[in-house]
Amino acid sequence: MKISVIGTGYVGLTTGICLAEMGHEVLCMDVDEQKIANLRQGKIPIYEPGLEELLSKNNLTFSTNIQEAIEFGEVVFSAVGTPMGQDHKADLKYVKAVAKSFGKHAKDYKVFVNKSTVPVGTAEICRKIIKEQTDQKFDIVSNPEFLREGTAVQDTLHPDRIVLGTDSEKAKEKLTELYQQNKEKILFTDIKSAEIIKYSSNAFLATKISFINEIANFCEKTGGNIEDIAKGMGLDSRISNKFLRAGIGYGGSCFPKDVQALIETGKEHDYSFEIIQATEKVNLKQKSLLFHKLRKHISDLNGKTIALLGLAFKPHTDDMREAPSLTIAKLLAEEGAKIQAYDPASKHPLNNCTSAEEATQNADAVLLITEWPEFQELDWSKIASTMKTPLVLDGRNFLKNIPEKFTYESIGK
Ligand code: NAD
Ligand code: UGA
Repeated sequence: MKISVIGTGYVGLTTGICLAEMGHEVLCMDVDEQKIANLRQGKIPIYEPGLEELLSKNNLTFSTNIQEAIEFGEVVFSAVGTPMGQDHKADLKYVKAVAKSFGKHAKDYKVFVNKSTVPVGTAEICRKIIKEQTDQKFDIVSNPEFLREGTAVQDTLHPDRIVLGTDSEKAKEKLTELYQQNKEKILFTDIKSAEIIKYSSNAFLATKISFINEIANFCEKTGGNIEDIAKGMGLDSRISNKFLRAGIGYGGSCFPKDVQALIETGKEHDYSFEIIQATEKVNLKQKSLLFHKLRKHISDLNGKTIALLGLAFKPHTDDMREAPSLTIAKLLAEEGAKIQAYDPASKHPLNNCTSAEEATQNADAVLLITEWPEFQELDWSKIASTMKTPLVLDGRNFLKNIPEKFTYESIGK
């Protein structure tokens, strides 16, 4: 099939490349000229394992021309950003702009598929915008995306489910043909349900994390080992062991923004999400936990050197959006501490060292922020000899075999 994908960020680019891999003829479009120029040379603008290799194997067309993009595909995906606005709601300006262009340039029947995470009712807003531009017949599908950064290719080629919200039989047939290889994973719903499935999935996972973090905090007061507890809970298949890793809170471009957007959408409909508000509150507190632990060991941080290992919101990505490292670094800076940080992928200015060894040199304490596998391979005896004080606070319960000479603390134990 001929497919157009508007927006070549994490979602659009992965979708486009994976659809090409599945045998479709794909055009990817973005307003960012630099991004498209790089993509034409086979360079991908994000850190995503396996994506560049897949791009080199397939033949995609890249464009900055919206008219060409809309005219190209019989199915047009919109995968533009829906960032958090000032009011904490999802900002729909990019989605609305794509809908308008679709209406302006669709000269024959096409299916408009929204992949961005959008509040319930957005498809209807898009339908109205498109109808203002054209009398041409079209259909709308809500096809939320569930990929994770770092495993985006696997998640897209082998998804747990493909949610398709539509009221059109013709669109159902087209999308079934498009997702032929994963046909058995398709769940058809009405449009509003599909939109809500996305937010409730993210809010549920975020709630699982805040829940286990609360139990971890309780363990620190009472005794008990959060890892054994998560294991004991997770063996119940109704609970499952996934997303029960206690730590210093969730970050990233999605959970924080989607949790807040859902709370705001609730308010618009005169509904107050009590559990989800608590999820958010617990997470905000959890992000500064490691800083407060550190303060118990070093009451005056002014002039002290603190090493941060890992900065990205999780390993295998360079993404720093809403990362707990940012909260911790801000608190440390406010106290006058000197930060020496190392992350294998982040391009953030905070990443001021080129190795873990350099970051820990002369440090008064090490904070493990992101569980990059290479941090498990460090020679801690050697590191101890270069530090001022052998103190390690592990925010992800990740480090193993830390020598006895260290004061070592983790979460929920
Ligand atoms: P992103 O910011 O990485 O990419 C969005 C792209 O859209 C940018 O390249 C931007 O230049 C482009 N764009 C904006 N307006 C445009 C227009 N009018 N025409 C063409 N291109 C335009 O965003 P992302 O992370 O890919 O997220 C996209 C959506 O998918 C969001 O709603 C997000 O919540 C959702 N989502 C993201 C992930 C993830 O892991 N990143 C996972 C699931 C869902
Ligand atoms: C998340 C969802 O997992 C995807 O399904 C979804 O598509 C995506 O958001 C989105 O809507 O954009 P992602 O943000 O890439 O994906 O990352 P996750 O692997 O879910 O991790 C999110 C955060 O939760 C990270 O900061 C991670 O450290 C934290 N986390 C995760 C925990 O603290 N404990 C856990 O047990 C799991």
